[in-house]
Amino acid sequence: VVREIAKLRNEIRKQQIASGLDKKIGFVPTMGFLHEGHASLLRKARELADIVVLSIFVNPIQFGPNEDYERYPRDEERDLALAEREGVDIVFMPSVEEMYPQPIKTKVSVSADLTSQLCGASRPGHFDGVTTVVSKLFHIVDPDYAFFGLKDAQQVAVIQQMVQDLSMKVTIVPCPIVREQDGLALSSRNVYLEPEQRKQALVLSQSLQLAKQLIATNDNITIGELQEQVVRHIESAPLAVIDYVQILNFPELSLIHPSTPLSFVQNQIIIALAVKFGSTRLIDNVVLHGK
Ligand code: PAJ
Repeated sequence: VVREIAKLRNEIRKQQIASGLDKKIGFVPTMGFLHEGHASLLRKARELADIVVLSIFVNPIQFGPNEDYERYPRDEERDLALAEREGVDIVFMPSVEEMYPQPIKTKVSVSADLTSQLCGASRPGHFDGVTTVVSKLFHIVDPDYAFFGLKDAQQVAVIQQMVQDLSMKVTIVPCPIVREQDGLALSSRNVYLEPEQRKQALVLSQSLQLAKQLIATNDNITIGELQEQVVRHIESAPLAVIDYVQILNFPELSLIHPSTPLSFVQNQIIIALAVKFGSTRLIDNVVLHGK
């Protein structure tokens, strides 16, 4: 466990010298309160890389003023046990002072084409906070591979754009969404859900399943009709308050006209949802290949 940037650089160099300079570094950035979704990224990293670095840092600059930064769940001991179990070589757990010793005057920002839609619309400034911290972490760790979950599909699209535009050497490895047995996508924020909210939260994954069925059985369905059916299913849960249900090209996140039949869409699309239960905001999505 390393908490300082300079020490982390030294430790990585030390391990690289010990195991061979050709050895690959795999990096999994997280905000902690780790679950099987995070564990799946660590396993993929263990598989593809020689030295696995995990970072745990609840990044204040990606939270809006009325968001859950202060109450974001934290459990260092449990996180370290999971890291150990998954064979992580180095855990980087910096303090806020270590990462931001003074208010930063530089930010990394991906253009609105990718960051103003979906979560960017309801969380202004969020993706600037993400790309700034991820780019800082990439500079500190200097990984060959970095692993990101498609649970946050827009985050993957935004980070891939940043890596490409800034010629970063890292290869981004997108990893599939890990779910509970009943379909709910794992999230550190699921602990906020009251029992009845937890039950009704199943409408997220169910509505995506429904969309897949509709696509499989109806060749002529339009993007608009599909979106409407997803909305209707989510609205069947009385506690659900929809933030957005959107169907976009992926990874471009560009709009598709609602009257477009799905069979006309050539490339990948994403059906992305954000739904609030009380003050807890959940997201889910599916990426599908056009016909
Ligand atoms: P966090 O929410 O902790 O997520 C860390 C990584 O775990 C992300 O890549 C996320 O997509 C992935 N993840 C979360 N739940 C998952 C699930 N159910 N299945 C698969 N992967 C899952 O995302 C962040 O932190 C931050 O924005 C960060 C990138 C660390 C920058 O601060």
